[in-house]
Formats: sequence, C-alpha cells, structure tokens
Amino acid sequence: MRAMKRIVILISGRGSNMEAILRTAAAEQWPAKIAAVISNKAGAAGLQTAEAAGISAVTVEHRNYPDRDSFDRALAEAIDRFEPDLVVLAGFMRILTAAFVQHYHGRLLNIHPSLLPSFPGLATHQQALDAGVKFHGATVHCVAPELDHGPIVEQAVVPVLDDDTEAVLARRVLEQEHVIYPRAVRDIIEGRAWLDGDRVRRVTAR
Ligand code: GRF
Repeated sequence: MRAMKRIVILISGRGSNMEAILRTAAAEQWPAKIAAVISNKAGAAGLQTAEAAGISAVTVEHRNYPDRDSFDRALAEAIDRFEPDLVVLAGFMRILTAAFVQHYHGRLLNIHPSLLPSFPGLATHQQALDAGVKFHGATVHCVAPELDHGPIVEQAVVPVLDDDTEAVLARRVLEQEHVIYPRAVRDIIEGRAWLDGDRVRRVTAR
C-alpha cells in the first residue's frame, strides 16, 4: 500500500467542495496528494483555484464526444494517468456510465445536496421545500450505477426553517457539505471507512 494516497477530483463549476478538500488536506497534513482536478467544462471556476494551488488542472470537454460511452472512456483515461487511489466527484454534473462506475468500484465518491435516499436529481433544495420536510442536508456516498444512489459514507442534517428560500437553504447545506466531504475523504484514504458489499463499514471507536 502506498503511504501517500493519490486523489483526483472531478468538477463542473464553482468547485467550493474541491476547495474545502484542498484546504483541509493542507491544514491537516493528510497522507495524500491531490494529483489532479479534472473538469468537463472549460473555464470552470474551480480549475483556476486548482491551478493557483499548484495542482494539475485538466479539461475533458464532454461536448467533444459523440456519446456518453466515448466521453467516459476519455475521462477515465485522463483520470488514470494520475493513478488515483480515490476519485472524488465534487459538483461534477454528468451522469456516468455503468462501465465507468464499475472501473472505479470502491474508490469513487460523490456528494449530493440532500439526505439520500430523499430527493435524488436536481433542484434538491426546492424539492425539500416543496415536500415540507423539517430536516434536509447532504450526503457523501460511494457511487453506484443508479444516479444519486450508493452506500452512504456520511450525512449532515440541516433544519429547514419556516422562512427559508431555496438560496438560503442551499447556503446552509453547502456549509455542511464543506465539513462532511473533507472528513469523509479523509476517513476513506486513512482506511477508517471502507466499502464492504453494499454498505460502508467503519472502524468503531473503542
Ligand atoms: C454542491 O451542492 C454539490 O453537493 C452538488 O453540486 C454543488 C457543487 O458545488 N453536487 P461546488 O462546485 O462544490 O461549489
């Protein structure tokens, strides 16, 4: 086993979760290297953040590929050049093929802005407001072929307040995303949490 784990982060835009991971990895001196940040969109703001931190920032434009299969193959090639132990989806807004998901089995994480299995898909904060739930939140999970499904690594619960708007609720959830995503990534790379069949197991505190 390598002492220094290699992480590749996939983004599509702002990249605030990516930034939270970079910041925490540096502050806590993780035994890990963020080997690359890859975006499916040229000009994604997060690419600049990565470059400024001295990390390889790569674009694989999905629009340059005729279909999902060929894009996912090109994406996997770009990722595998960095030999990652862990691939972290951080606001990566593409549906992935089963072949891609299988290729990274046990080392592919995603964050979704809801308490899964509630509210998969888009506009999760509006979905939560429409449903009238009192608690909402975010989920870090291992990626399974079905969109926004897969064994849960970590969740954060956020109360929904009577006067919440979609934007206010989104902000409150995002704050928690920035707490739980770095923590979950660290738990996985340090072997405190791991995929075991269709569940994530953890070292239990004594
Ligand atoms: C986050 O809310 C994440 O949960 C969702 O997309 C958003 C990405 O934000 N998948 P950022 O790019 O990490 O700032």
